[in-house]
Amino acid sequence: MLKGKQIVLGVTGGIAAYKAVELLRLLTKAGADVHVIMTRAAQEFIAPLTFQTLSANPVHTELFNLIAEREIGHIALADRADLCIIAPATANVIGKIAAGIADDMLTTTIMATKAPVLIAPAMNVNMYTNPIYRNNEETLMDCGYLFVAPATGTLACGWEGEGKLASPESIFEAAVAAISPTDLRGQTIMITAGPTREELDPVRFISNHSSGRMGYALAKNAQRRGARVVLISGPVNLPAPFGVELVGVESAKEMQAEVMARIGGCTAVIKAAAVADYRPRVRSGEKIKKKDAELSLELVKTPDILAELGRLEKRPLLVGFAAETGNLNEFAARKLKEKNVDFIVANDISQPDAGFNVETNRARLLFRDGRCLEYPLMSKDALAAVILDHVATELAAK
Ligand code: CTP
Repeated sequence: MLKGKQIVLGVTGGIAAYKAVELLRLLTKAGADVHVIMTRAAQEFIAPLTFQTLSANPVHTELFNLIAEREIGHIALADRADLCIIAPATANVIGKIAAGIADDMLTTTIMATKAPVLIAPAMNVNMYTNPIYRNNEETLMDCGYLFVAPATGTLACGWEGEGKLASPESIFEAAVAAISPTDLRGQTIMITAGPTREELDPVRFISNHSSGRMGYALAKNAQRRGARVVLISGPVNLPAPFGVELVGVESAKEMQAEVMARIGGCTAVIKAAAVADYRPRVRSGEKIKKKDAELSLELVKTPDILAELGRLEKRPLLVGFAAETGNLNEFAARKLKEKNVDFIVANDISQPDAGFNVETNRARLLFRDGRCLEYPLMSKDALAAVILDHVATELAAK
């Protein structure tokens, strides 16, 4: 997403300036070319050399620097930026930008740029709640400036409350969202992910190898593209995606209950979860003890959640998955029809680089009008973007 993007990172004079180093690291790791501008006050907290070394670019500190003016210049920097971030942003710099004051390299660049500007404020709680600050923030928001709200906690000044710089990870996510297409804005997308667990007794369950990666990649991408995302997830070992409403479930029955309780208002549902098709008829309250005889389990069917959604009178856009070990097209086409979905993502899980528990996937998309689009091996993140492109197109056509 950030590969090759030109990002201006403005650092102002707050104790949280050191956290901008971590943000810079996340941005460069994602492939961005970062140009750091430090205000004079920022240099009291941290040395420019740190940013210079990590960004592999000269750090800009002076508005009238002969070399900088010849080689780059504040206007050139403003022009070349795909995104400007100010982190941490003090009440002072926010006030200056809101008032149209451009008296140093950072404020001049911000005023001259046509790129989106993302501001991550950090200050004392009383400054943050001061009506003067609030007016400035509102003015900037009205002009289209983006904000990452500060966190609440113990502040460097000793006060408790709002004003702590948002985490580098959340500023990074907001940065990615700021330069991502917003073609899913206004949509509410429900995504199911991961396996389900069907308990036999208090210590054992039936489950599958789903890691949840495909569903989580979809959730992260949809959120970045502006959708409100509800992620209903079976037990997985993945961090909660930023800005997503995460609902944890265990069994197919629980997943069904959470899906149906939240379906109102959803414009699309993507069912990436590997839902167990059967559960033990009886769940023993006590641990099942080993005996001399063999043990047979009686299994009963779980609810088919996707098919249930397909039967809804006013159903949202439905995307299903079909994980198969053979006859991919035939089985996927049958699921498309029988579950009444708009399109289905089919993948052959007998291949070692596709399907469960790997980072990559190789999929084909089957549509109701008979189209079948085949995609090469790609990361689950890239496949999520492809699926969401089709979701955006189908939603626009609805
Ligand atoms: N699905 C569901 N509820 C179930 C089983 C599956 O909602 N109880 C959904 C899955 O999330 C997926 C699609 O249906 O989007 C297809 O799942 P899959 O396991 O491939 O197919 P099944 O219908 O279970 O059929 P089979 O296991 O025989 O291939």
